[in-house]
Amino acid sequence: MSKYYLTTPIYYVNAAPHIGHTYTTIAADAIKRLKRMQGFEPVILTTGTDEHGQKIERAAAAANKSPQKFTDLISNEFRQQWKALDLQIDRFQRTTDPKHAKVVQDLFDRCVKSGYVYKGSYTGQYCVFDELYVNEAKPGDPCPDCGRPTETVTEENFYFKLSAFGDRLLKFYEDQPDFIQPESRRNEVIAFVKQGLKDVSISRTTIKWGIPVANETPHVFYVWFDALSTYMSAVDGEGLWPADLHLIGKEILRFHAVYWPAFLWAADLPLPKKLFAHGWLLFENDKMSKSKGNMVRATPIKEALGADALRYYLLREVVFGQDGNFSYDALVQRYNSDLANGLGNLSSRTLALIHQNFGGKIPGPGSTDMGDQAKAAVDAALSAYERLEFSKALETIWGFIGVLDRFIVERAPWNLAKSGDTAKLADTLYTAAEALRIVTALVYPVIPESAAKIWAQLGFRTPLDAIRTADLAWGKLAEGQEIEPATGVFPRADTKLMIEKMKEGEGAELVRQQALMGAKVEAKAADNSAHITIDDFIKVDLRVGEVKSASAVKGADKLLHLQVDIGEPQPRSIVAGIALAYKPEALVGRKVVIVANLAPRKLRGLESQGMIVAASLEGGNPVLASFLEDVPVGARLK
Ligand code: MSP
Repeated sequence: MSKYYLTTPIYYVNAAPHIGHTYTTIAADAIKRLKRMQGFEPVILTTGTDEHGQKIERAAAAANKSPQKFTDLISNEFRQQWKALDLQIDRFQRTTDPKHAKVVQDLFDRCVKSGYVYKGSYTGQYCVFDELYVNEAKPGDPCPDCGRPTETVTEENFYFKLSAFGDRLLKFYEDQPDFIQPESRRNEVIAFVKQGLKDVSISRTTIKWGIPVANETPHVFYVWFDALSTYMSAVDGEGLWPADLHLIGKEILRFHAVYWPAFLWAADLPLPKKLFAHGWLLFENDKMSKSKGNMVRATPIKEALGADALRYYLLREVVFGQDGNFSYDALVQRYNSDLANGLGNLSSRTLALIHQNFGGKIPGPGSTDMGDQAKAAVDAALSAYERLEFSKALETIWGFIGVLDRFIVERAPWNLAKSGDTAKLADTLYTAAEALRIVTALVYPVIPESAAKIWAQLGFRTPLDAIRTADLAWGKLAEGQEIEPATGVFPRADTKLMIEKMKEGEGAELVRQQALMGAKVEAKAADNSAHITIDDFIKVDLRVGEVKSASAVKGADKLLHLQVDIGEPQPRSIVAGIALAYKPEALVGRKVVIVANLAPRKLRGLESQGMIVAASLEGGNPVLASFLEDVPVGARLK
């Protein structure tokens, strides 16, 4: 059977791994397992880290580390993360690997040779965060993509003649309608290319932290020219290129659907077969971002509830391709209803009944029509999987679990045992066990660890990983097979306690990652030259205040406008950047600490007469200073 080669994006090392990265990588792992089940051989999955460019250089400087040391550290963090989650990564490609540099240079040389590269000069705005020239921006303008300030740069660069590929790209999208998925994303790309393509610069001279262009000092390769090539360098010389699938998030589709095919055509190299751009994972319906401090990390969830709970939740709850929401509450609910009650219950009940009635041996063959229903479920689930419609596939499988539950209840094996109807009892339990075998194999790509446990309990000695779609046919479970003791695979979780546990773990993981990224704490502790005297401190007038009212500030999602009583005739008007952490109504009546002698200033047209004191967590939400004892309004803090 033929090979299947798939990739995730290679992740920037300016941020430590969070659940957004995990989402893509888990989906890729599930696809890998599915492809093996379909018989592809070998199935190879590449991920890695994107380590060059100004953004990374600056993150390293902020962490007080050399770029190499810093990238080693964070790249390793990603590697460990995938290991902790048991993801089957075959190649972990770093852009700082010397083997990779050769592939990038080769791609460039090929493009030069075919006449698609020229030298030109550029003066204009640059977004360091997105590593993108913003052609339409003027000095001082923000980046239209991310809203961060752009910087003015003048550079001599190597340019790639992207403009020459517009028509060829459009024809290609038409001839290969499956190349970009889902459909809606494909339409966006087509509209973009139809507007006309500009040439793109593929080298930089103002940046040092990059792969040098051979014999062209001080040019280094542009990060995207560098990054996209990892898909090839990861499998260099193995005959695995072209990739069968690049799995990516929707925000980087343009690079993959427009730049990448053009680079490869210019270099006379084969194109990947398919791009699938999934949607964004939101946190409580808001985009997750470092600056908003609303990111979630995967390992605390794994430790509390297991990796499979997270995998199942992400792939069941979010329609793959669309944006979806992450919430701890929904995660635990899904776990309890679908895994503990649904699959867990079916499995423990079936196995326990076989132990009780047939001494732990699979009883004689069944004769119900369940085989037809199983086949229909298998066909529907596999075809949904094939289209990467995970949610639909799982819904189908759980629909079938519902059918089995009803079947067991209707047959009431406990009554059959009592009345001594052994033939019907055997038929019932064979049917339940055989259906459980098929369900276990079907859910394996999504919840591999738990499926393997049920598989072993069913008495199989061969690894579940070796199962192929042909094995999903009805009737393959052998009569007489000895099953193992049934132990609960999904213990029920107390929702409140479980959420607390996960949030606690999240807090600890955040602090650990912050330290890794060179948290300020460290830097500050070392800097004791900055001592102040008591006279300096006394200058700050800190007062106890009580929040009288709070409201959102129009057009500023981080700000709240507060009226705070600090024992003066009128409450103070204070504008505070705490809206992401506190709902206005939750603040009214709360005692807070105010810097009362700060010079007033205007924010969004509102006067702020002081400042509210809060612990500021890098990458996290602010936490207001407060008191355990009751304190009178206006009291001074000394
Ligand atoms: N280094 C580039 C990719 C180069 S590929 C040749 C990059 N890196 S990144 O660290 O920003 O990772 C972006 C990818 O991480 C997204 O495309 C997506 O796969 C995943 N995600 C990061 N945050 C995400 C969400 N909040 N939701 C879903 N996926 C997200 O871009």
